[in-house]
Amino acid sequence: MSTETLLFHISDVHFGLEDSRAVNWARDEIARQQPDGVALTGDLTMRARSHEFTAACRWIQSLDAPVTVGVGNHDLPYFNLLERFFAPYRRFGAVQALVERELDLPGLAIVPLKTAIRAQPRFNWSKGWVTKAALRRCLAAIDALPAGTRALVAVHHPLREVGTKGTALTHGGSHALAQLAKRNVLGVLSGHVHDPFDIVEQTPHGPVRMIGAGTLSQRVRSTPPSFNELRWDGQTLQVRARNLAEVPTPEMQIDDVPEDAMPPRTPGEPVAPVGAVPAVDPPVH
Ligand SMILES: [Fe+2]
Repeated sequence: MSTETLLFHISDVHFGLEDSRAVNWARDEIARQQPDGVALTGDLTMRARSHEFTAACRWIQSLDAPVTVGVGNHDLPYFNLLERFFAPYRRFGAVQALVERELDLPGLAIVPLKTAIRAQPRFNWSKGWVTKAALRRCLAAIDALPAGTRALVAVHHPLREVGTKGTALTHGGSHALAQLAKRNVLGVLSGHVHDPFDIVEQTPHGPVRMIGAGTLSQRVRSTPPSFNELRWDGQTLQVRARNLAEVPTPEMQIDDVPEDAMPPRTPGEPVAPVGAVPAVDPPVH
């Protein structure tokens, strides 16, 4: 009997501007490989519009595996502020029960930590914010796991306080990461930046592995559409950035966490070795 756990970490599908070939391929790979769990780390939609959520829900319901759904900044109602404040998750409709749920597997759990919030005391609401309440909930969930169980924490925004340009990427990210470093955390799974990475971040309480998934949308940065395949054998967590272009994983991964989710077009921004930066971003309709 194999004791290996297989997980798919998929992010930023952005229905409305999804890459349909990549999205269908991911669904077929789930059917073929039957992963033990699928973590979707936010940005299911482009503009949180009803037809985008309808397509996202249909796709999620077609996935033949246990799924946990994270919320990204693009998934909060964009045009309707009343709804954004009072019923932000209503549009998740049929998959609402999967939103930010914990996935418990033998010896391993995927625990959500919310980083996309409804409003922030700053201009750019697309950035991340770890509230005290969200962190408290996440840490309590980790502390309640059976002894010896490892946790993979699922977020949308990488838990990095300062990005490559020096301004805040995720408010409270450093504190959250340091608290996770004190616990039996195997890694933090994130999305948002649309290029995959697998790096180790130092905190005052020790190192934490940060694993980012690419995108399955047309909003690619320096890599073709991809998702992460994670294999855990009880000792080692192996990460592969699967993509239809068959670019090897080391060529797919950026070596630092970028400032934001914009294309890397200024010097100093992390670019994956494959360097497939598109000339223009596809328009949002
Ligand atoms: Fe995104």
